[in-house]
Amino acid sequence: MSVYTRIVRPLAFRLEPEAAHRLAMRACASAGRIPVARSVAASLFGTAADSRLRTSVGGIALPNPVGLGAGYDKNAEGTDLLARLGFGFLEIGSVSKWPSTGNAVRPRAYRLPADEALIVNYGVPNDGAAVVAARLAGASRAVPIGVNVVETNGRPADAALDTIDEVASAVAELAPVADFLAISAECANAPGIHPLARLDNLRRLLDAIAAPALPPVLIKIRVPVDEIDGVVRVTDAYPFVRGFRVNTIAPRPYAGLATPRAQWEAMAGSLSSPQHGLPLMLRAAEDWYRRCDPAKYALIASGGIRTGSDAYAAIRRGATCVQVVTALVYRGPALARQINRELAALLAADGFANVRDAVGIDAGRSG
Ligand SMILES: Cc1cc2nc3c(=O)[nH]c(=O)nc-3n(C[C@H](O)[C@H](O)[C@H](O)COP(=O)(O)O)c2cc1C
Repeated sequence: MSVYTRIVRPLAFRLEPEAAHRLAMRACASAGRIPVARSVAASLFGTAADSRLRTSVGGIALPNPVGLGAGYDKNAEGTDLLARLGFGFLEIGSVSKWPSTGNAVRPRAYRLPADEALIVNYGVPNDGAAVVAARLAGASRAVPIGVNVVETNGRPADAALDTIDEVASAVAELAPVADFLAISAECANAPGIHPLARLDNLRRLLDAIAAPALPPVLIKIRVPVDEIDGVVRVTDAYPFVRGFRVNTIAPRPYAGLATPRAQWEAMAGSLSSPQHGLPLMLRAAEDWYRRCDPAKYALIASGGIRTGSDAYAAIRRGATCVQVVTALVYRGPALARQINRELAALLAADGFANVRDAVGIDAGRSG
């Protein structure tokens, strides 16, 4: 057992989840400003450089394929420290054009410790594109930093822009400070059907954001498997679209949780659980990998990843790289290094000189 699971986690778990997370972010922000704290974090938790793990997404070089997923550092407050925790990249956000306090209900995050799972219902609270862009402009780049962009939840009543113009405007503000952009064409926690999931709207959005200096764009979109081809036909016309964020949401009611049903039934929100997330994500990674050109599109997969063998399975099913959020809460700051160590050993054992060679090996893609 690590110091994190023996000492830090029990203390943090005495706090309400959202309060604990705020505290963790404050600690990251403060420590990230102190050079010696950054160096200590890097030596305690950093991933050693390893040519086997080096990869790239949309032409951006990554030291390793294990990223921090969206939702942990929503406002780019902790990047200077988080970048030292062994991740190959960070995705901050989701960030919207206007600041939002998110969903009004409280609580809006729950722990299910018996399942190493979370249920969240935040509704994308964030400081808004202008504030986050200014913060990111001053952030160091120990690893690439992507920004997840989403439409504003609870848009100001006087906002004249429609959803597409609004997201395009946020993209324009954030593009200069982002190494890549992940645009959410779905959101688990904002009420209503996502307008960008419709192909005509997706096309309008891509037309609206097209600009010469755009960083690589990934689309976070959740569609039934028979609609993937349609999405790819749309994005094929836009060279700046370089990949997809592959994740899935487990539908209620949840089968097989160790947490009693009476407890999770009372928790509004969407579930992030390894037991549910991992198999759904593996299937989604394979579905997407089989339907899009790996030479053009990278796949970033998230959902239930806790170990190197989870990450390796995702990569073998088609993921270019992976992200973690929930496991960081349960397993602590050494998580990325641990996953990377295990992943490197698994790649070596199977004779892969580089992680890219293992991508999609189990996806059964023909030609
Ligand atoms: C507390 C929390 C907040 C999240 N917030 C966001 C978000 O703002 N935007 C987003 O695209 N995904 C968000 N997600 C989804 C994660 O990025 C990820 O796709 C999902 O949790 C599955 O990965 P995991 O099992 O490693 O947590 C959030 C997840 C959690 C647990």
